[in-house]
Amino acid sequence: MTRTIPAEPLRWAGDRLIVLDQTQLPEQEVYLELTDPEAVARAIEQMQVRGAPLIGLTAAFGLVLAALNGPEHPDLFREALVRAADRLRRTRPTAVNLFRALDRMLALAGGLDPPGARAALLAEAERLLAEDRQATVRIARFGAGLLPAGATVLTHCNTGALATGGIGTALGVIYEGWARGKIRRVLVSETRPQLQGARLTAWELKKAGVPFVLITDSMAGYFFSRGEVDAVLVGADRIAASGDVANKVGTYGLAVLARHHGVPFYVAAPLSTVDLNTPSGADIPIEHRRPEEVLFVGSCRVAPEAVEVANPAFDVTPAELVTAIITDAGVLRPPYPESLALAVQKTDGTRQPTNGRR
Ligand code: MRU
Repeated sequence: MTRTIPAEPLRWAGDRLIVLDQTQLPEQEVYLELTDPEAVARAIEQMQVRGAPLIGLTAAFGLVLAALNGPEHPDLFREALVRAADRLRRTRPTAVNLFRALDRMLALAGGLDPPGARAALLAEAERLLAEDRQATVRIARFGAGLLPAGATVLTHCNTGALATGGIGTALGVIYEGWARGKIRRVLVSETRPQLQGARLTAWELKKAGVPFVLITDSMAGYFFSRGEVDAVLVGADRIAASGDVANKVGTYGLAVLARHHGVPFYVAAPLSTVDLNTPSGADIPIEHRRPEEVLFVGSCRVAPEAVEVANPAFDVTPAELVTAIITDAGVLRPPYPESLALAVQKTDGTRQPTNGRR
């Protein structure tokens, strides 16, 4: 089934990158025009663009901008590209898609003169975008096949069109499941502190006409305990070789609840999110963000002055709690060290990310 994409979070416009400013949603649809890699890096850091696959794609176009703005001398051109890639790598540490995309782009520019490199880099960024779009379609089809009829599924954060170059990962499965008449309703957790569930997933599902109920993160246990969750579907920012999954903070708690209640816990992600160079979840760098994100909801302060705050943006779900990983290469089952390695080997074995190690 062909699906219409409910949002276009990123578009190349010939000499600039147009991105939808996700910090303004759902109140306003504001588009930003980015013309240099520093602006791209800031948009990623400030989460105007976010979601693992989309971060990688945005960074790839950031490198295209570095090339367009770069000097004509081949050595200086190469230096400018490497500098821009290093800056983009320092934006957010957890989603491996960022490092993978930058590696692929830099590897291409190697022996080319500046005009050749500019053309090659743009073509590669567009290829990455097309590949990601295609991957989301495949994930949606594989994942929808796992859902029982009349399912209530719980999802966390935003894994839809706003997070990818296509229809999404976990949310793509939900769109496809809805189109096949398998979904009764979706429970959307608000996803404190950045509210990607409330602001972004609710916005997408409303546009797409998929029935959903918004809940706060702490309400999940209530719905599990009443037998009102048939499956959990989440995305991933990095999947280690062991099958441990880093995803938006709160995911681990949902996986524990799912196991306790005998509910399947599915992770949907393209193979570009699998990092065989990271052995286990303990090796995944977890981003910690500003305390203000916890201290304020919008412009309203919700805690007293001078309190200590922790703000890890992601947590790690151990592989043993994951029922299946739905990828663009098919549905992978435990033992994940074997199934992940095989899937990667069959598709892009030579393209594992260096995570900044060159
Ligand atoms: O901090 P964010 O909004 O970039 O985090 C996003 C997530 O955790 C998503 O679940 C993940 O990137 C998968 S998106 C297809």
